[in-house]
Amino acid sequence: MRQRPSSNPLWLVCAALLVVAACGDDGAEAPTPDARLQAFCGVDYADVEAGIDATIAALSLEEKVSLMHGFSVIPDRGAWRTTALPDQDIAGFAMLDGPRGLSRFSGRPGTAFPVAMARGATWDIEMEREVGRWIGDELRFVGADVLLAPTVNILRHPRWGRAQETYGEDTMHMGAFGTAFVQGAQEHVLTVIKHFAANSIEDTRLEVDVELSERTLREIYLPHFRRMVQEGGAGGVMTSYNKINGVWGSEHTHLIRDILRGEWGFVGITVSDFTWGTHDTVRAIEGGLDIEMQYPQVYGEPLVDAVNAGDVDVALVDEAVRRILRAERCFASRTRDTTIERTESEAALDFAQQVARQSMVLLKNSGGVLPIERREDVRIAVVGELAGAENTGDRGSSAVNSRDVVTFVEGLEAAAGDATLAYIDDSVWDDDAVEAVGVADVVIAVVGYDEGQEGEGQIAAGDRDSMMLPERDLDLLADVMALNEQVVVVYVGGSSVLMDGWQDDADAIVVAWYAGVRGGDALAELLFGDANFSGRLPISFAARESDLPEFDNESLTVQYGYYHGYRHLQNEGHQALYPFGYGLSYTSFSYDGMRVAAGAEAVTVEVDVTNTGDVPGAEVVQVYVGAPGVVAERAPRDLRGFTRLELEPGESATATIELTIDELRYFDEAASDWALEVGDYHIDAGPNVRDIMLTEVISL
Ligand code: BGC
Repeated sequence: MRQRPSSNPLWLVCAALLVVAACGDDGAEAPTPDARLQAFCGVDYADVEAGIDATIAALSLEEKVSLMHGFSVIPDRGAWRTTALPDQDIAGFAMLDGPRGLSRFSGRPGTAFPVAMARGATWDIEMEREVGRWIGDELRFVGADVLLAPTVNILRHPRWGRAQETYGEDTMHMGAFGTAFVQGAQEHVLTVIKHFAANSIEDTRLEVDVELSERTLREIYLPHFRRMVQEGGAGGVMTSYNKINGVWGSEHTHLIRDILRGEWGFVGITVSDFTWGTHDTVRAIEGGLDIEMQYPQVYGEPLVDAVNAGDVDVALVDEAVRRILRAERCFASRTRDTTIERTESEAALDFAQQVARQSMVLLKNSGGVLPIERREDVRIAVVGELAGAENTGDRGSSAVNSRDVVTFVEGLEAAAGDATLAYIDDSVWDDDAVEAVGVADVVIAVVGYDEGQEGEGQIAAGDRDSMMLPERDLDLLADVMALNEQVVVVYVGGSSVLMDGWQDDADAIVVAWYAGVRGGDALAELLFGDANFSGRLPISFAARESDLPEFDNESLTVQYGYYHGYRHLQNEGHQALYPFGYGLSYTSFSYDGMRVAAGAEAVTVEVDVTNTGDVPGAEVVQVYVGAPGVVAERAPRDLRGFTRLELEPGESATATIELTIDELRYFDEAASDWALEVGDYHIDAGPNVRDIMLTEVISL
């Protein structure tokens, strides 16, 4: 789905330039420098730039350099701060994570939203914009002005420890979500999108060199960053810890200077990742790093010395200081103050519940075990340690302190009505427990992961050891399934899991992700049928780990090929256990017709969909493109657009999805430019990447 928010100044600039170039898309001309500044800052940018000239002229070298780094190892007054120079009217930045809500480093409670992977499963861009708004507002409320989020690294493998922090495995889907989040959050604060680039392994994140071709980088790992910068107007970019083709992220001239600033026209700030993200004074400043976080190691005194010794041109310092002051001044004037009276307000919690409700994915519902009836004679048994756990996700930098998490058991108990519900904690697996599970009409088994098994490297759990469920849960499922045939498995985790040994015996399978502060209430609404499932997988669930590209979190050099996720599975002919885009509902939908119109700039796809069931529901219509792939090899299908339709029983509607021609291009390495292959393009529409309902072939 293309976002065309009329309130985004950058988009207005792009629209004006459309006559000469398709601004914001691969291969298109970047806006002029003035247009970039105007879009970044607002109409008064010329005054801001003139003011910056005067400030730079008045600052000593030491003062300038002091603006280019944080100054404390631990948070200072509830934030990660950079230097303030009050005499020069420079406030400095107050930065906080995070991807699922106000960071616990603020020292304050925050609304823990479902993690980004869960939100990616909503396929609801407007909802994500609202999530961004809430998180930005809570940051602003506690006095921060820079949000270190979203995390927009492609999920290359499900064992990546920070999978939960990102939106999924597809660059188009990631770009749509990241852009909406940035636009929402930047109503209140500047966002620093992270980590630039190819950062999707935890255990070796500080040392690993990710080798990939220029084409793979351009087509798979960068397009979402570009969209968030150009269309979203992101104010900052955090460099990654890892090396990319032999060069550290914070020193990557090609990524920062050539692509980000040169080709994409980015005029905001670059920020290093914290503590371990910088290595060398000269290489960092020459590479284009503006701010070293969270305390000076290669900037600070070493940078002053390098300038004084003639190793660094002071013009590079001035250039970085200009971007820092621009970001501070422009965002101070273009953002608005907080609109809330407290963090974790009732309204925010209600909204977090709505997001959770839309994010959970129903993978299986055989025999109609769901929804569960709440009659007096219905006995429900809930099992699994995670059912009673406050499990909102990783305890690394994305962690949020919640005052009152509603666990799954609490949510189910509160909503069970006349039905009887018994919770059997794993620690009391005695005769009474066996009896309760045996006689239950339905057993809800909550299994999966928590902060002990997956999370950020070094400061939390790091990468997952396995794609199998923990032993504890495999044993639990075996025991429960031997006692009862009506088992609903609720899976909690940041990415996919293998289902060997239990999938066939599960009557229903729900992916709940890390569902946030009100996850328990949301799960109850769905299991009891008060709400309909509408989540769809933003990642593939593979049948076997060997079907995926290798996950190597030990070697210090890894190769990222052109294929991963659904593109890899399809290319290799592996059937996914549950494909990308998949998810069931309590109703059904028919795809009745498709019209495809190719224009000079865009292809418009219209798909007619009807709700053919008895209850209201939402369908996510997905459009995939199969390019000719003769001149340059392409994936069998690439997601190029999607939209979500809410339909009453019997209602029909038309999904309109626009694909720009530029998005169909591939990166021609020989020419070092984007190219459009002439030939037949398959335009496929359906509810997931596997079950294509309608296809048209167009010639371009
Ligand atoms: C993480 C970043 C985070 C930073 C500050 C680092 O460990 O990689 O994503 O923004 O810490 O908390």
